[in-house]
Amino acid sequence: MNEIPKTRWEQAETGGYAERFARLIDEGADVVGEARLADVLVRRGATILDAGAGMGRIGAELQRRGHTVVAAEKDPVLVADAATRYPDLPMVETDLLALTPALLRERDLPDAFDLVVLVGNVIVLAAPDTEQRLLLGLRDLLAPEGRILVGFHPVNGHGAARAYPFEEFAADAEAVGLVVQHRFGTYELHPPAEDYVVAVLSRR
Ligand SMILES: C[S@@+](CC[C@H](N)C(=O)[O-])C[C@H]1O[C@@H](n2cnc3c(N)ncnc32)[C@H](O)[C@@H]1O
Repeated sequence: MNEIPKTRWEQAETGGYAERFARLIDEGADVVGEARLADVLVRRGATILDAGAGMGRIGAELQRRGHTVVAAEKDPVLVADAATRYPDLPMVETDLLALTPALLRERDLPDAFDLVVLVGNVIVLAAPDTEQRLLLGLRDLLAPEGRILVGFHPVNGHGAARAYPFEEFAADAEAVGLVVQHRFGTYELHPPAEDYVVAVLSRR
């Protein structure tokens, strides 16, 4: 049960993600849409976990907006990228399945969050059959009124990603005591769509 399996991300050829975002950032492209939505979901100066943070683009933007942010990422190359690009972003190098309140306290970091940001296809790139376990672990990191913002392609996403129909995702969330409060099709709150899921989860 406590075994930590390899994520789909680790099992795949994933080179190019950090370079693509680095190029977009350097070109001045808008790469923080997820952070804008996350920002309106919380009070000013909230405590936010960027779960599966990659090279840190969303966590760093939320930090810039005045929130207390912790990033967690398993891929050591991306952790190193984040340290170079966003040296002030607190980063825990870990699998999300091993991210516990105790581990965060050990690092003198917050152990309960107003918002967990799980965007950029993290959930469809987690290890096979770990979605419920991952959501349960994140639920246990929520402050009393805390919520989880999730974003993923349910079909035709990243090459290594699984297909994850919204209904299956919602059932997995329900199974671990979470409920879908809102569902949209984009980070600009377009109606639910076939090709992208933006969901806000809360404790049931
Ligand atoms: C496409 S990247 C997106 C990164 C970032 N969220 C963003 O939007 O820029 C997907 C990330 O999910 C991370 N990931 C997937 N499953 C994970 C797990 N169980 N623990 C930690 N990170 C995980 C991968 O390591 C990878 O960095």
